[in-house]
Amino acid sequence: MNKFKRTLVTTALPYANGPVHIGHLAGVYVPADIYVRYLRLKNEDVVLIGGSDEHGVPITLKAKNEGVSPQDIVDRYHGIIKKSFEDFGISFDIYSRTTNKTHYDTASEFFKTLYDKGEFIEKETEQYYDEEAGQFLADRYITGTCPHCKSEGAYGDQCEACGTSLNATDLINPKSMISGSVPVLRKTKHWYLPLDKHEPFLKKWILEEHKEWKPNVYGQCKSWLDMGLQPRAVSRDLDWGVPVPVEGAEGKVLYVWFDAPIGYISATKELTPEWEKYWKDPGTRMIHFIGKDNIVFHCIVFPSMLKAEGSYILPDNVPANEFLNLEGDKISTSRNWAVWLHEYLEDFKDKQDVLRYVLTANAPEAKDNDFTWKDFQARNNNELVAILGNFVNRALVLTQKYYDGVVPAAGELTDYDKETLEAIPEIVKKTEEALDHFKFREAVKEAMNLARLGNKYLADSEPWKLAKTDPERVKAIMNIALQITANLAILMEPFLPFTAKKMQKMINFEGKEWDVCGKKELLEAGHKINKPELLFEKIEDDEIQAQLDRLAKTKEDNDAAAKEAAPAKENISFDDFTKMDIRIGTILEAEKVAKTKKLLKLLIDTGIDKRTVVSGIAEYFTPEEIMGKQVSILVNLAPRKIRGIESQGMILMAEDANGELIFVSPEKNIKPGSEIR
Ligand code: 2FM
Ligand code: ZN
Repeated sequence: MNKFKRTLVTTALPYANGPVHIGHLAGVYVPADIYVRYLRLKNEDVVLIGGSDEHGVPITLKAKNEGVSPQDIVDRYHGIIKKSFEDFGISFDIYSRTTNKTHYDTASEFFKTLYDKGEFIEKETEQYYDEEAGQFLADRYITGTCPHCKSEGAYGDQCEACGTSLNATDLINPKSMISGSVPVLRKTKHWYLPLDKHEPFLKKWILEEHKEWKPNVYGQCKSWLDMGLQPRAVSRDLDWGVPVPVEGAEGKVLYVWFDAPIGYISATKELTPEWEKYWKDPGTRMIHFIGKDNIVFHCIVFPSMLKAEGSYILPDNVPANEFLNLEGDKISTSRNWAVWLHEYLEDFKDKQDVLRYVLTANAPEAKDNDFTWKDFQARNNNELVAILGNFVNRALVLTQKYYDGVVPAAGELTDYDKETLEAIPEIVKKTEEALDHFKFREAVKEAMNLARLGNKYLADSEPWKLAKTDPERVKAIMNIALQITANLAILMEPFLPFTAKKMQKMINFEGKEWDVCGKKELLEAGHKINKPELLFEKIEDDEIQAQLDRLAKTKEDNDAAAKEAAPAKENISFDDFTKMDIRIGTILEAEKVAKTKKLLKLLIDTGIDKRTVVSGIAEYFTPEEIMGKQVSILVNLAPRKIRGIESQGMILMAEDANGELIFVSPEKNIKPGSEIR
């Protein structure tokens, strides 16, 4: 059918600096998995390659913030990400990582080959250097005022307030995020891949020879090529990454976007000693599944690297997807605006296929799309439960009821029966065509059409009304319903692997391949099926509401965090400060002050004495929960009468921009009366 002997499918390596969410699944991993499962069912030679991208500045920043090493960060998230993919049935042949030795060796060698062939240019430029920290600063490590919108806190590569991409040297009042000092410009040498040199080749290869690529991918490539390509630096001054393997490159590593795609090669090496046939034999078809932000790297930069190396094949297709939004807003890791895969499975146990289905039916193939919980519920209840689940359940339950689980012989068929049977291969063909062209939304819709066909056929034929009067007719109907079920059990496997397995078990029809699809007699008369169980269950409103509430809470938290901290007060002298006598005290008793909403009357052991303090914290704490708690108390505040009670001192509280209060307590118990200074 195609001229290729085998297929190598790669999936973008996610950065190991956070867990994965529905956007990852919808954009890259579910479509890749569907495609690979389909090819495997067709008995084709195919491998699915994945892994974690463990280099890059954001990982080093996160490590710094947490006071741990970058390796700690990537170890943590590599494990979480790998498990999420396993849980969702993403059937990688290997899920590797770019901190493995094989990868370091492979990426180094690759660089060295290009270096030796003279495929790089060396350039000296001026870059910001932090003299206090003794290191060059990646653009992300520098903040300052945006030259365009004048917002504070713009990064060296981008101003998040106005969205402009920046050069670090554009920033007004630049500051190093590492030491806080003002960085200075220093000369540094880097290696550049001269993309301009490869431009004529890329133009021919993409614009003329790959017109079949998806319009969003082709269009993005065309606009890059029309603008004209520039040399790109492939090294960085950083201490986290694959060291640049040439003399005079101390303190420099390969740019993360140079080493990451080589990760596909390293992972294939780890998978099989025959890795070269996947990467170097023109009989291999290589497909990169990625999101739209990765298009330039996979269609222009990586192919230029492979071409420059000389012994590798180039991708045959790059079916990149657009983005998935969540309830109308861009998914964002830092704002926690996401449905995290590991959290989804806590709330929707064993419902991997429901999410796979919804993300495929609503995949952002041609434009950005929105995931909403209401749509999730509707697709589950109205499609998976009402169409697929309902049809299969009816077919199997009736077979148990009428024939004790044995497939009846069809006997004579009506025109409607024949029409129905003939529609099966049509649907299969349409599904295949869509899959072959990476149109997964269309493919799953077609596959569901087979369940629709079955549902309609049973509803129209009403075998339950004929059981007594026309048993021969019922046999024909049930036989056809079972043939449709068997077809569904294979056809659904790429999309809903967990459900398909269940169906195959229930009808005793395991280990089949794709080529059986479309046949009218998959289950012979006399074949025994097993006990049916429900494939899907209804998702109730309260489950959806809980998800919406969680998102609303996230929004609230984000809004609060966005509010600015109160401005600093005027300076005071050290003497002013020492006048305050602040101690640790223990709350012995607490009660509400009658007829007030906010006040609690507390009895505090201050170490000096036991005294009464009135505190405005009743909206945040109940008397029971604070009894015995250690707090900070200003003991030499002049006594004041509050609601007729003399308050002798003040409990210190921290208050956020939303007015939420928390105690300022010692991190472990200490004797009451201990001084705070
Ligand atoms: O955008 C990203 O998440 C990158 N980590 C993708 C890398 S894909 C490949 F080149 F490894
Ligand atoms: Zn700006």
